[in-house]
Amino acid sequence: MPFTANRQFKAKPRLMASANGMYYTTVDGRQVLDGTAGLWCVNAGHCRDKIARAIAQQAATLDFAPTFQMGHPGPFALAERLAQMLPGDLNHVFFTNSGSESVDTALKIALAYHRVRGDASRTRLIGRERGYHGVGFGGISVGGIAPNRKFFGSMLPGVDHLPHTHNLEQNAFSKGQPTWGAHLADELERIVVLHDPSTIAAVIVEPVAGSTGVLIPPVGYLERLRSLCTKYGILLIFDEVITGFGRLGTAFATDYFGVMPDLVAAAKGITNAAVPMGAVFAREGIYNAFMQGSEQMIELFHGYTYSGHPLACAAAQATLDIYEEEGLFERANALAPYWEEAVHSLKGAPHVIDVRNLGLVAGIELESIAGQPSARAYDCLVRCFEQGLLIRTTGDIIALSPPLILEKQHIDQMIDLLGTVLKQVS
Ligand SMILES: Cc1ncc(COP(=O)(O)O)c(C=O)c1O
Repeated sequence: MPFTANRQFKAKPRLMASANGMYYTTVDGRQVLDGTAGLWCVNAGHCRDKIARAIAQQAATLDFAPTFQMGHPGPFALAERLAQMLPGDLNHVFFTNSGSESVDTALKIALAYHRVRGDASRTRLIGRERGYHGVGFGGISVGGIAPNRKFFGSMLPGVDHLPHTHNLEQNAFSKGQPTWGAHLADELERIVVLHDPSTIAAVIVEPVAGSTGVLIPPVGYLERLRSLCTKYGILLIFDEVITGFGRLGTAFATDYFGVMPDLVAAAKGITNAAVPMGAVFAREGIYNAFMQGSEQMIELFHGYTYSGHPLACAAAQATLDIYEEEGLFERANALAPYWEEAVHSLKGAPHVIDVRNLGLVAGIELESIAGQPSARAYDCLVRCFEQGLLIRTTGDIIALSPPLILEKQHIDQMIDLLGTVLKQVS
């Protein structure tokens, strides 16, 4: 099983049988409130009729068509629509099947971009400590979560990491963006001097880091990264696999922060997770750099059998319809203040050493049991599941990221139950 203690799970499995709206139903018939939109991906809630029908209809019409030297209208129509959603000239799209593939695709586009422009010495990639960029070799190389890296050899060469921005002494219990820490972006300047700017291809960060335990960027931090990347001719990649499609109350984090990256990696909410799909968005100038030379040449030697799969395109169109028709991004934005107050009401609950939030995301950090890191949060996860709430944990941090369709009553239910469980755990 992925990212699971297999033997522990087998001894006492947690199995879902069906889902609807805000709830899962387990195989033993219990309702479980979805506090995490599955894995940060079911933004429009579960088993949406419109999406199910679109997939079924597409499966009966065109199940698959190759997209190497061939095509079908699905990905073109979807790319046009997505290009309208992204700001500025982020208007070219490359389809993948997951966040990990989107990250590796974005990194490869960045490397190839410099090379096609004759700037082939730019081969270094800069990630960040505690970053999570999926599980491909590119993603774990730029990623900064030790257990995801240490078993897998030396990974990509020429990678360096910015420091993470998490600091409880300065920022504990911040509501929204913390005020301390923008200066940590200046570490990029040190890295640039160390390696020589002409060797650096790209910097990749999650605008809001999720899987590492919800790290919210300090005020001004992303802006500084942007200006340093511009200064040194380095591409800035935002990994928006979890922040894309409404999580912060805007379509993308780039809209929320008003900071424009050169490439965006996305996935998850693009199809409401009903069919696997990812996408990379590139700015006009990046696309154009490849469209040079002989027209018989393949411009980018990269792609997946299932890039732009018809079922994924159909699911994405229906998902985007729902986001629009139900105004779900605006809804997330409108609920964010209530969410903030609710999650911060857990300040003072047993074991809680920090609460942080942005949009419809929250991180609740617990004091670790001495010598048993992660044990307390895992205990919470199990108890929450048994009592009817799905949460996510990383180390001793609880992450919440509910579907954007939630009502205030669901927020109350989540916080009440979490409060109860925090009193139960040792
Ligand atoms: C920021 C980020 N990037 C990449 C990924 C990897 O996505 P996937 O699991 O679809 O490969 C994730 C998954 O949670 C993520 O949060």
